[in-house]
Amino acid sequence: MEANYNLSLLNKIGYIEIDNFLDESKYNSFKNAVDKIIQSNPDKHIVRTDSSINSKILEGFINDEIVTTFVKDLFEYDKVNYDINDTFKVLRILNGKETGSGNDNYHFDGYYLTLFFPIYVPKTEGNNGSFNIFPNIRPIIDIKLFDFFIKFIFQNKLTKKFYKSSFFKKRFKPIIIEPKEKSVIVFRGFKSLHGSGRMDSFKKRVSLLYHFKKMK
Ligand SMILES: [Fe+2]
Repeated sequence: MEANYNLSLLNKIGYIEIDNFLDESKYNSFKNAVDKIIQSNPDKHIVRTDSSINSKILEGFINDEIVTTFVKDLFEYDKVNYDINDTFKVLRILNGKETGSGNDNYHFDGYYLTLFFPIYVPKTEGNNGSFNIFPNIRPIIDIKLFDFFIKFIFQNKLTKKFYKSSFFKKRFKPIIIEPKEKSVIVFRGFKSLHGSGRMDSFKKRVSLLYHFKKMK
């Protein structure tokens, strides 16, 4: 696997999307690992983190050279120190009738950098759960009260309702990305307000997320 990427896109458009970052065999092994989890938990919305992902192939990819080199390049570009072991992994499986709930929500990550691997993306008509982002809108200020303020403003019950309104979508216009299987989307998760767009029920969408450098 080799990837060419233009790091300046992190500033220019706020994210980097690399098509076919996963080669065919790696992608198929990811899909097989996910299928096994789905088979033992059918029609469920599953979120697993770190070692509870319980799959060597999905957990271990974080140590693959293609990932570690990419992460090193990204942090060097930002001139930010990091430790490759300071990570948080999330496997998010949306499947079955619950998939229509919980979308159009936005949040900031607690980690500096986020790598998002779409494993399953629905390709049918209708709402397929886009990836929406307002990149690089949060300054990094080392004051606890500021973090509290940010959470209060962007992640309270009222704003959660507001994010779902058509006024919000029309007025604030997030960047809307239709994720592609085998690709990676990387962004500064701590600084970027992001979330999933609407997805209809009974569609399958699986995301693998690697976060780096805990911020608080
Ligand atoms: Fe996130």
